[in-house]
Amino acid sequence: MMTVPDLQRYKRDKKKVIVVTAYDALFTRLLEQAGIEVILVGDSLGVVVQGKPNTLAVTMEDMLYHTKLVAGTAQKSLVIGDMPFMSYQASKEDALRNAGRFLQAGAHAIKLEGGAAMVDRVAAMTEVGIPVIGHLGMTPQSVNQYGGYKVQGKGKDQAQMLLSDAKALEAAGAVAVVLEAMPASLAQNITEEVAIPTIGIGAGPHCDGQVLVLYDLLGMFDEFIPKFVKPYAHLKADALQALRRYKEEVEEGKFPSDAESYQ
Ligand code: KIV
Repeated sequence: MMTVPDLQRYKRDKKKVIVVTAYDALFTRLLEQAGIEVILVGDSLGVVVQGKPNTLAVTMEDMLYHTKLVAGTAQKSLVIGDMPFMSYQASKEDALRNAGRFLQAGAHAIKLEGGAAMVDRVAAMTEVGIPVIGHLGMTPQSVNQYGGYKVQGKGKDQAQMLLSDAKALEAAGAVAVVLEAMPASLAQNITEEVAIPTIGIGAGPHCDGQVLVLYDLLGMFDEFIPKFVKPYAHLKADALQALRRYKEEVEEGKFPSDAESYQ
């Protein structure tokens, strides 16, 4: 069973923290069979499951539903619930209550986006025993502010700000931090400067761990493929081929054959 303290131990032992997203029971079982130890129920489900252009419309109810599916199935992985847009931004009290709902749904930790502006939330959650994972760099809930999904931290001032955000999150009690879409050198610097593990996505090879969205990793989602995605399979192509063959065989009277029929 992977636990929050194991995240720190992995960093100390220079063992990579491998994270993949999941949103349902079937893939949770697959991830565990593959030895993936940390599962993020990401609000990326807004895009890959719900078909929205971004994550902003995802609600607490959506997230709790999927968190229950994953946490109810996971036997040994650490399950992280991703706090959706406006479930923690408006007030510390909202943030604390909503974070608690994730743990009640079975998550072991929560993730939220933002740096210095979020430290009071992180501290309040930490104080009551809710482990928090930060998320810095290209934080998708701020897509409108960035004017699109753009690499962050390229300039010196921005890089300095992201480093100080990471330190602020650590000081407030965050147990790890996701670094998304930033120069590899900056992610390396942050990784060296904080004692908590950094989990990269589009942040180069020097982070303490990596995370990918499941459907990107499996080659199932191809509407928008960021540079940092490596498809390790091509399941969309396989699925299309299977569906077309099924259609053809029914049309041609080849399916069902005797093998699939009761005599
Ligand atoms: O929502 C998500 O899946 C994420 C990861 C991409 C880090 O936040």
